[in-house]
Amino acid sequence: MPDFSLEKALIVVSSGEVRAGTLCVSGDGLVSGLSSSPPLGLGYASVVYPALINTHDHFQGNYLPPVGPAPGSFYLTWRPWDNDLKASATFAERSRLSREDLYRLSGYKCLFSGVATAVDHFPQAINREILPTLPLRVIRDYGLAHEATPNDLHWGDGIAEEHRRAAEHDWPFITHLSEGFDEESMRSLENLAGFGLPDGRCLLAHCIGFSDADIAAAARAGASVAWCPASNMRMFNVTAKIRKMLRAGINVSLGTDSSATGSVNLLEEMRYARRLYRELYGEDLDARILFGMVTANAARAFRLQDRLGTLEAGKTADLLVLRRREEDPFENLASASMEDIELLTLAGKPLYGEPRFAPLFGKGGVPPGYTTVTVGGKTRFITGDPAALYTALREKTGFRKVLDFLPFEPEAANRGED
Ligand SMILES: [Fe+2]
Repeated sequence: MPDFSLEKALIVVSSGEVRAGTLCVSGDGLVSGLSSSPPLGLGYASVVYPALINTHDHFQGNYLPPVGPAPGSFYLTWRPWDNDLKASATFAERSRLSREDLYRLSGYKCLFSGVATAVDHFPQAINREILPTLPLRVIRDYGLAHEATPNDLHWGDGIAEEHRRAAEHDWPFITHLSEGFDEESMRSLENLAGFGLPDGRCLLAHCIGFSDADIAAAARAGASVAWCPASNMRMFNVTAKIRKMLRAGINVSLGTDSSATGSVNLLEEMRYARRLYRELYGEDLDARILFGMVTANAARAFRLQDRLGTLEAGKTADLLVLRRREEDPFENLASASMEDIELLTLAGKPLYGEPRFAPLFGKGGVPPGYTTVTVGGKTRFITGDPAALYTALREKTGFRKVLDFLPFEPEAANRGED
């Protein structure tokens, strides 16, 4: 890729620094420089952020509509949800698609919501072959357990070996934890302690049954938490004690979980998290804190903070450019929708964007391998051919299936553009 720069933009370098000016990207995909150009005026119609990071998702499960408990009831553990899922029309319909189809749909769920880095909470034995074919960074280097309790699904090589391998390579060790209120779930942190954990490389998803003592222990250990409020509320009508976790200094990031239980995508999860926080605590979750959850905190949870999460010089140029609808750039992100995305890059390479960004590819413009879609009435180039995928999905389901994380109609898409 050639060098490029984004000029006259509001640049959100980190939760503590916003600049009005120019961001430069080198041909090797790194942020190479930032310059300020006063004064900030209304000409700055776009805001540049670090691309978003989703710390909890299941790529095989991203399908709609969601599956939850019977109206007026909630689950005690994830197991009855799993039974309900397997018996659902959603699952029957989803089963007409291949695993590759579902992973590619999940990749576009990410792209259309500004996510350039995510995790697929399945063991490498399931996703090893597919992840490198997706157009975003789905982390491949991690240790994993399904859930750190004696009766979990025993994914991977077991907690001790998975964590040992993660430590050897400096990867995160990721597990569901305390996703429910049965005795086993309530003692899950105790079970983890039997392995000398948690520690600073643990990324713990959910933690809804954590006591104050559990929160203190996780904070002392330096563990990270993937907060999945929409999924938690749908299944359990309870979520993690997130204000206490933040006050304890836990590194909290945000995860969607799959759309079978969570939000449609990470943009919606951010809006949901904010609404829920206000309902629970009667105060706003600061938009800067929310921004940190989907950028720097998430990068740290993946142990990628040296490369991702902020727009400092030397970091990887994963960029998200949003239309500026709000004066405050953090509020702008917190309220953004899919239609607001103007550009998404992965290591400097545009994945999705407005035609005005085609020159970022160099003299030849948008290269082969890209198509166009119409989102919110506006043309966007995009890597790969999501319209063909959407069309194939409709052929396999036998009707005009709509997936809300795909914000376009495949019939209106244009393939084979140069
Ligand atoms: Fe999950």
